Amino acid sequence: MAAVIKTANEIEKMRVVGKMAASVLEMIGPYVKKGITTDELDKICHDFIRTELKAYPAPLNYHGFPKSICTSVNHVICHGIPTDKKLKDGDIINIDVTVRFDEDSTDPDHPTGYHGDTSKMFIVGKPSILAQRLINITQECMYKAIKIVKPGTRLGDIGAIIQKHAESHGYSVVREYCGHGIGSTFHEDPQIVHYGRAGTGEELKAGMCITIEPMINAGRRESKLLKDDWTVVTKDRSLSAQWEHTLLVTEDGVEVLTLRDEEELPRLIKHA
Ligand code: MF3
Ligand code: CO
Ligand code: CO
Repeated sequence: MAAVIKTANEIEKMRVVGKMAASVLEMIGPYVKKGITTDELDKICHDFIRTELKAYPAPLNYHGFPKSICTSVNHVICHGIPTDKKLKDGDIINIDVTVRFDEDSTDPDHPTGYHGDTSKMFIVGKPSILAQRLINITQECMYKAIKIVKPGTRLGDIGAIIQKHAESHGYSVVREYCGHGIGSTFHEDPQIVHYGRAGTGEELKAGMCITIEPMINAGRRESKLLKDDWTVVTKDRSLSAQWEHTLLVTEDGVEVLTLRDEEELPRLIKHA
């Protein structure tokens, strides 16, 4: 299926839900402390999304996913399921939030709407220098890719810039999971892979909404799916980091729909 070009009305809905998703990551930050369980983080996010935002946590029941957020700790690459295990000093954790909302949707039991998908790394207590470096380089990979998004940029350009930055620091890029188009469907075409060759692949067009969400491993790139059929870990048990934003391709650049206040990145990036 071809990528969806959003109408002005849809773009406004993506802006609203993108800000909601960002607000969940801002809200949960102070709770990410030693001793809290990922189940507790899940419940706090769930209640905030349902009660404060009057929106819906898209992961819940998505292809059978049992919780409202993904919590991926240490060597978990992505899709970690919240559990009753407590966070401990030095853990690194990705919290991945996807909010679905449409002010015109009236039936809470059959929610429709648009999606805002974003994730952030948190550190519990004092990070090791190695973990901090992996987290920083992974965020730089995402930012470098965001900064080249505009009509005409090719998917291979995005993959190449991420792969180059990660590998130049001795890290590897996970290949089995990728970014995606996003809108009234959680995962739309195209697939945005985080490795590749510049000058290849489909061109971005104004009005597309996509995520960029690189998963970068400190060790080898191979992943393994655990028996719960969700949790993805590094095969060599090395640390893994991920950051994610939802983006709108504008006429002359990109709008970061899930930007948080703490970030230095501008919401709107224009290329001459
Ligand atoms: N939020 C993830 C993504 O970035 C997808 C999670 S699917 C789930 O695409 F079912 F695991 F929640
Ligand atoms: Co995503
Ligand atoms: Co996500």
